[in-house]
Amino acid sequence: MSRTWKRRLKLAGLVLAVLIVIGGVMVWFRVFREVPQHFDSADEAWKYGSLGGESDRGIPYWIWIVMPRIFGDKLPGPGGWKSFGLAWEEGREIPIGFSLKTVGFPRITNNCALCHTGSYRLAEDQAPHYVSAGSSQTADIQGMLRFMSDCAKDPRFNADTILAEIDMVHKLDMFDRLLFRFGVIPMMKDALLEQGKRFEWMNLPGHPDWGPGRDDPMNLTKYFMTSLPVDDTVGQTDFPTVWALKGRRGRPLNLCGETPVLRSVVIDSALGLGAAGSGFLKRADEITEYLENAPAPAWPYPEGPYAIKKELAAAGKAIYAARCAECHEPGAAKTGLPADMAELGTDRERIDSWSQAGADQANAAVKELGIDRPGINKTEAYVPMTLEGAWMRAPYLHNGSVPNLRELLLAPEKRSKVFHRGCDIYDPVNVGYITSGPDAERLGFRMDTSLKGNGNGGHTYGTDLSDQDKAALLEYLKTL
Ligand code: HEC
Ligand code: HEC
Repeated sequence: MSRTWKRRLKLAGLVLAVLIVIGGVMVWFRVFREVPQHFDSADEAWKYGSLGGESDRGIPYWIWIVMPRIFGDKLPGPGGWKSFGLAWEEGREIPIGFSLKTVGFPRITNNCALCHTGSYRLAEDQAPHYVSAGSSQTADIQGMLRFMSDCAKDPRFNADTILAEIDMVHKLDMFDRLLFRFGVIPMMKDALLEQGKRFEWMNLPGHPDWGPGRDDPMNLTKYFMTSLPVDDTVGQTDFPTVWALKGRRGRPLNLCGETPVLRSVVIDSALGLGAAGSGFLKRADEITEYLENAPAPAWPYPEGPYAIKKELAAAGKAIYAARCAECHEPGAAKTGLPADMAELGTDRERIDSWSQAGADQANAAVKELGIDRPGINKTEAYVPMTLEGAWMRAPYLHNGSVPNLRELLLAPEKRSKVFHRGCDIYDPVNVGYITSGPDAERLGFRMDTSLKGNGNGGHTYGTDLSDQDKAALLEYLKTL
């Protein structure tokens, strides 16, 4: 070979190497490059911050934008994603509980605020007030999961249709078009179909719909973190409020006290949302601190006919101290510790939806990820929570089976057997959200307390009080 040829070959090799490096950098840049998020406050980070689930669960933003447009016929109503009862602040491009982060391209994931953001309106024509760390009692997570797998099953979920719809709102460049057509869209279809299969158990006969504001947390954990077979247990549970958790320090968390410390609940919940990578443990510590100190909201009627009557509330405080405080005051003898189920008598399905085998396997799975945390257990009773912001914890009991505080003080047979939950218009007279009438029926979900796991019995504390004493106790509960 002549010297010129050798030189030419060398040069070609060099050019190729440079091209490969540039190509590699470009692919890395356009597919994997992480752009850090920035938030002005811990509250903003709670509402919109990523937990690092982009590679496992991220939905490309542009697909997320067009899904409700293409598959509008599968939505429960008008308003796109908002029709699932999501909390959506005026002027924001995504709802609370969603994170928009660029990992190569912009991707959507969910965070804790999806299920832990309260909302209330004092009148039908008002914009909702959103309260961080409250209960997302209007959010229909099951509806959203079903929507996503239905979309993936639909023949319209293909590159031509999706790219054509994206073209109407955003210009993807050549690289992204190819990436979406041959990579992202087919992969997402498969992932959504797979996700649908993993959630098939919730559609089996005998599994009542969760409805807005609830999911089946221990079965979700069981079928997500363990290899246990699908069984016939159900455990529909309200999204609990998670503010002011400092009041539960030293006592276990979860509705049956399965988890010894808050940090473990935060880690397990984040894993459930696809968290991975080293950033998430630091974020888990920040969230732990945030929830310990997140303020509970004050009764929203500072004046007018529904303002708290101070003298009546003072009388109620004495009744609370005598009848309720031992189980519900922070640090009291029974607060946060397993109750006596024979005496408590609330629906026990949620307890039985978890098992020692589930706890053992879940702990092993977390350990395998190299995460060190006090493990989850199996327990046999609900634990009494502290009652900060009690007025906004409606509907009441672990399964949200009692519409308001007035009814909680009624003998179980006098409580509503069917009501509509998931409407955020407040009912200051009964202390809860409205659960009947046209608005509640239009916006809400028909809660039938005769279905498995929806029982509204038990917790008869205070039901024997006189009407006067009940009125006083109710007045005091508004001050918490
Ligand atoms: C899909 C809905 C959903 C998401 C998302 C979610 N949670 Fe929860 N969370 C629940 C439900 C339901 C429970 C009740 C579990 C039970 O029955 O013990 C719960 C329980 C909790 C508790 C225990 C409350 C108590 O009173 O003991 C804490 C703390 C908590 N979640 C924090 C988080 C954090 C932090 C995240 C994000 C990393 C998160 N959750 C994400 C639904 C959710
Ligand atoms: C012996 C302990 C005990 C006593 C006394 C007690 N409770 Fe409870 N309370 C519990 C337990 C346990 C739960 C959770 C039960 C469940 O969800 O199934 C609970 C749940 C509640 C809830 C539901 C909170 C929510 O977020 O859904 C409210 C409200 C409540 N109690 C108020 C009261 C009031 C008011 C009194 C006094 C009249 C009282 N409790 C007396 C143990 C007690």
